[in-house]
Amino acid sequence: MTTLQVRLHAISYEAPTINTYELRTLDGAALPSFSAGAHIDVHLPNGMTRSYSLCNAPHETHRYLLGVNRDPASRGGSQCVHEDLQVGTTLEISAPRNHFPLVEDAPHTVLVAGGIGITPMLSMLQRLEALGRSWELHYCSRTRAVTGFIAALAQYGARVQWHHDAEADGVRLDLAALLQSHDTSTHFYCCGPSGMLSGFEAAAAQCAGAPERFHVEYFAAKEASAAEGGFTVQLARSGRLIPVRQGKTILDALVDAGVEVSYSCSQGVCGTCETRVLEGVPDHRDMVLTKGEQQTNRSMMICCSGSKSACLVLDL
Ligand code: FES
Repeated sequence: MTTLQVRLHAISYEAPTINTYELRTLDGAALPSFSAGAHIDVHLPNGMTRSYSLCNAPHETHRYLLGVNRDPASRGGSQCVHEDLQVGTTLEISAPRNHFPLVEDAPHTVLVAGGIGITPMLSMLQRLEALGRSWELHYCSRTRAVTGFIAALAQYGARVQWHHDAEADGVRLDLAALLQSHDTSTHFYCCGPSGMLSGFEAAAAQCAGAPERFHVEYFAAKEASAAEGGFTVQLARSGRLIPVRQGKTILDALVDAGVEVSYSCSQGVCGTCETRVLEGVPDHRDMVLTKGEQQTNRSMMICCSGSKSACLVLDL
C-alpha cells in the first residue's frame, strides 16, 4: 500500500477529550484529493495503525484534518495520539479511502452523529454547503461540555440540532421519528457508537423507499471475528499454503507466518486489510463491504472474515 510522509502542523483543543490534528506534506505540495466521508490510516509512533475520518472540507488540498477522541477504552491508538504526538512530528499515512461516500445529488440529506462520529459529518456538510444542497445535522453527545466542534457548527444555525441526553433539559434523539419524518428521497447518514447505529438500522428497516438511502459507518465490530479456523489460505503469488487453525483469524495466521499484510482496526471496520479473493467462499464478517459486494466474493477483510470453503486463494 502506498504511504505518504506528512508533518503534524497543528494540534487544536476541541473538548476535554477531543483534539484536532492538522497534517501537511513536508514540502508544502498538495495532498491527494479526497471525497467527503473518507478516512486515512495513520501509522503511530507506538507501532499501531489507526484509521481516522477526514473532517475538513474535501476541496482543501493543503491539509488533512483529523478529530481524535481520547477513548477511555482505547486499545492504545487514541491514547498514543493524545500523549505522544507533538507539532512537528513526522508521520506516515495512507492515501484517503472512502467506504462512507456521500450521494451528492440527494434532494435533502440528514446527518446523524454520535460523539466523535461527528468527524465524517463535518466533511460531508461542508461538501453539501459547497454544492448548495439542503441538509440538516443531528448531533448527539452526553453534555455540551464534552462536545467538540461547537464553534465550527454554530454558523449553521438551526440546521444543526443538538441532543445532549445527560443535560437536565436534554432531549434524546428519537431516531424512528426522525427517519419517518422525511420523504423517501432523503438520504440519511449515521456514524457513532454501536448502540446508536443498531437503533438507526432498526429504524431504517421500518421506513419505506430504497434501503440504499440509509448509510452507516461503524467504528467497532458488530459481530465477532471468524476464528473457527479449520481451512487453508493459499497465497496466489507464491503458491504458499498457510493453515488457519482454530482460535486464529486469517490475519493472525498470516502475521504468524511472516507474511507482510496491511491492517489497522483488526475489527472489520476500516477496510485496510481488504484482499482480493481468487478462489473459495469467504465467511464475511466485516462492516465495510455492502451485502451486494459480499455476495460477489471478489474481496474480503482478512482481519475478521473466515472461510466457508476448505481453501481460499488470495491475491497475496
Ligand atoms: S484491518 Fe480494518 S477492516 Fe481489517
